[in-house]
Amino acid sequence: MPDIDAIVQEIATEMRHRTDRGEVARYIPELARVDPHQFGLAVILEDGRVAAGGDADQPFSIQSISKVFTLTLALGMAGDDLWTRVGREPSGNPFNSIVQLERERGRPRNPFINAGAIAVTDLIVSGHQPRESLGEILRFMQFLAGDTSIAIDKAVAASERRTGFRNTALANYMKSFGIIDNPVDFTLGVYFHHCAIAMSCRQLAMAGRFLAHSGRNPSTGYSVVSAERARRINALMLTCGHYDGSGDFAYRVGLPGKSGVGGGILAVAPGHASIAVWAPGLDGAGNSHLGRLALERLTKAMGWSIFGV
Ligand code: DON
Repeated sequence: MPDIDAIVQEIATEMRHRTDRGEVARYIPELARVDPHQFGLAVILEDGRVAAGGDADQPFSIQSISKVFTLTLALGMAGDDLWTRVGREPSGNPFNSIVQLERERGRPRNPFINAGAIAVTDLIVSGHQPRESLGEILRFMQFLAGDTSIAIDKAVAASERRTGFRNTALANYMKSFGIIDNPVDFTLGVYFHHCAIAMSCRQLAMAGRFLAHSGRNPSTGYSVVSAERARRINALMLTCGHYDGSGDFAYRVGLPGKSGVGGGILAVAPGHASIAVWAPGLDGAGNSHLGRLALERLTKAMGWSIFGV
């Protein structure tokens, strides 16, 4: 096997020196203050070995990457009934698109665009107080990462709550079609807060290990989901995880991956590794510019694309 430590260091060095860093997200004021010069990468192999480079231990706002974990929780609660309220097709539209929702009568295309993730969060909230649901999501992340220090960045959550007019519009619109069961404020409150969970690349790669290994953490032996469910979540990450940039990500990187506007990406090399990368500058579709480039370098060097070496 190629020398993963050397490859990760080489990528971290290249990314540190690149000047094309993309633009940090500005629509969430607190994220606009993040220094775009940071870069982190963590790769955790099946045997538990970790190769980490750059700012791999610096916590960042995981944003939409949290949607992978809320989807996992919601599938555990509702099983396939979830798919009556959310679809499974790529959107081909920006993550916060409103027009598509009108054309499709309030049923979001997939669980990773904002409307779909809000509908998934609503399912988790049902029958609970928002605080309990949020606690459950946070504890799930801590359990998966094996780290109880993981916390929500309250300033980011408050910043998004103050300015989340579009998400409020999406949620109200879905409510008019009966896709949202709970008060819109409750569901959005939980959604904004789970998006504001702060994690490092190392913690995030730990949390994603079950997806790389048939639903099970190979180090602890704990089963999180069935192998079939892990495969299906990976399929959704591949087809929908980067919104209208999903095709390009599959073409260049060749792995299931989920991005967030904080600049993080969780990627899964089935049977090989769980990978988290972070570079705050985004491309036009709202996905990490250098994060994608780093993953492209990594999968090429390791021969990890799911489409062939
Ligand atoms: O709802 C939002 O707009 C953000 N909390 C999450 C969006 C996001 O991360 C899109 N990903 N690239």
